[in-house]
Amino acid sequence: MKRSVLWVTIAGAVLMTTMAASGATAKPGSTKKSSFGKTPDGEAVDLYTLTNKNGVEAEITTYGGSVVSLKVPDRNGKLGDVVLGFDSVEGYETNTSYIGALIGRYGNRIGHALFKLDGKTYTLAKNNGENTLHGGTKGFNKAVWAAKEAPAKDGQALELTYLSKDGEEGFPGNLHVRVIYTLEDSNALKIEYSATTDKDTVLNLTNHSYFNLAGPGSGDILGHMLMINAAKFTPVDLGLIPTGELRDVAGTPFDFRKATEIGSRINSDDEQIKLGGGYDHNFVLNRKPGEPISLAARVVEPKTKRVLEVWTTEPGVQFYTGNFLDGTLTGKGGISYTKRSAFCLETQHFPDSPNKPEFPSTELKPGQRYHTTTIYKFSTEK
Ligand code: BGC
Repeated sequence: MKRSVLWVTIAGAVLMTTMAASGATAKPGSTKKSSFGKTPDGEAVDLYTLTNKNGVEAEITTYGGSVVSLKVPDRNGKLGDVVLGFDSVEGYETNTSYIGALIGRYGNRIGHALFKLDGKTYTLAKNNGENTLHGGTKGFNKAVWAAKEAPAKDGQALELTYLSKDGEEGFPGNLHVRVIYTLEDSNALKIEYSATTDKDTVLNLTNHSYFNLAGPGSGDILGHMLMINAAKFTPVDLGLIPTGELRDVAGTPFDFRKATEIGSRINSDDEQIKLGGGYDHNFVLNRKPGEPISLAARVVEPKTKRVLEVWTTEPGVQFYTGNFLDGTLTGKGGISYTKRSAFCLETQHFPDSPNKPEFPSTELKPGQRYHTTTIYKFSTEK
């Protein structure tokens, strides 16, 4: 209790000093809009800066609805960025790692770039070997979303909307998508996804933020301690498509039921680890009956003692250790994004569900409303 009172006071003092310097009036939180550049077609792209009452800040661009930066306190109350991102829209247009972006229509992979729905076969783009990854050639991460400030009781909220037209990237139905980002005063970033369609379709929306709780540029994430609330995971084939099996994590490098260093088993001689080049797998989340939203994962960074908890209504989470980052991407402040310098916890339905009737369904029909929530909660430990 004492600690949090102290923190609020310090944050308030810092905020007041900054505001006095800029001549602004003190207020509990704010949302500001600025230009983030233009697409090659001349479309304007904006950057929204959400600041909560503690000074915690999230920058979100309308390009791909991407989280550009997220500044949260460390053990000493010092704010620092914990996500990868780019200084301007060009970085988002050219990177193929989906950094910070909203992903759709279908987060993760669809095998052989095909699926059947109501007896009809739909053909998608093969943008990942034989398969479709993260929505195809021009997924939601490459769309410019419409944005407006939204009301929020306990923080700052931004509403993003996008119409994905019937047939876009091969998917059926006009899909109206709405994503609300709320930077809560409790230092959580809540993401609420909703959608409606006018034809039967499939969808699986997520956010592809890459986290390094010690800050981008601070080295690899192998020393972060991770807990994943999952007793099973979905093993994959050579193309990273689930085989359909739900395998026990017990006795494997996928057992994160107790907090374990990310790096402790990442180079082990395990068939699944080898196929992923590290971790690149979907975990089947434990859920208590009737629980509306559950803890999926908890990560602690040992030096800064920053803690990230991921809560979600989704049945799965893709744990990806940035195995394909190879140092060729240069992000904010000229930092090069090297192998395993960040991790992703992408909440989702399981990969290739449209071709796996045994997996929870990703179908959406006219008259139904898709609605999922994921919350990234930040705090610190002693
Ligand atoms: C996938 C990785 C992929 C990355 C994007 C993750 O969701 O599982 O295999 O490389 O996204 O670059």
